[in-house]
Amino acid sequence: MNKNLKVKIAKWSELENKKPAYALYANVDLVIIKNGEEVSVFYGRCLHRGALLADGYVDGDNLICGLHFGDYRIDSGVSEYNNAEKLQKFTSWVDKEADAVYVDGNEIIEWQEKHPQPYKRDEYLGLYADIHGTEEEPFNGYIRHLAKNGLSKWGHHGKTSSMGVPLTKLPKWEDIQIVTAQLARKPLQDDAPVETGLVIGPKARKPLKLKIPIFVSDMSFGALSEEAKTALSKGAELAGTGICSGEGGMLPEEKENNSRYFYELASGKFGWDIEKVKDVQAFHFKAGQGAKTGTGGHLP
Ligand code: FES
Repeated sequence: MNKNLKVKIAKWSELENKKPAYALYANVDLVIIKNGEEVSVFYGRCLHRGALLADGYVDGDNLICGLHFGDYRIDSGVSEYNNAEKLQKFTSWVDKEADAVYVDGNEIIEWQEKHPQPYKRDEYLGLYADIHGTEEEPFNGYIRHLAKNGLSKWGHHGKTSSMGVPLTKLPKWEDIQIVTAQLARKPLQDDAPVETGLVIGPKARKPLKLKIPIFVSDMSFGALSEEAKTALSKGAELAGTGICSGEGGMLPEEKENNSRYFYELASGKFGWDIEKVKDVQAFHFKAGQGAKTGTGGHLP
């Protein structure tokens, strides 16, 4: 390839000293820095998240990215903060008589072939797109999508999904701090039997006895399939505890497989029938879900 494709990218007289200027050549964003009689031309996007460096500023000998203040030396492009990071520097020269700053176009074309640029500059915010994203800001892509397309791609109700929380968002065991009793009582050996049973309504005519102080809470039939509800019901029975119908009405297969069945009344009253209360072991009352009040009441 011809190594000297002389391409004018700026007028020398229009460059301000130590003020980054933007240029675009061969689909590559460039940043031009005039420093006295010298000029440097670099790849024009920050290596962090691709912000345009022409929107940044020069502080001393460093070009600073305007977003999160990444730094690059204006002579070499090396980051002072992290020497392993270096902006690509392109060959450039000044011709004052021609009032021009030139680059070698072929060098940039070759670089672009190895580093294809994903920016769609004609699109809304395309010049400023954050191609990388980060784990700390996982919703950026979604927000950009909404800003660009509104609800046209999602439909009137926006993005919907089945109920549930992704596993990665659930609290983990290590997030739960259990205040141990060591200071007050001597801990038991691992193999010592421990009573975990719980009686709800000990003075009621029909106390509800659970072998563990946990039950399978109210996910309705409909939100969960018949198979899932029945399997959970059997599992709860094996664990010595109950399961709650949820507010989708009573699923007979679920109820048959558990001897500590909670029947739920919630604000929607879906599938609710007072007659059915007689036939269950517990009545579960949910006062609200908006703030997930957790006010499940029980009437044995
Ligand atoms: S995008 Fe430049 S420092 Fe973050």
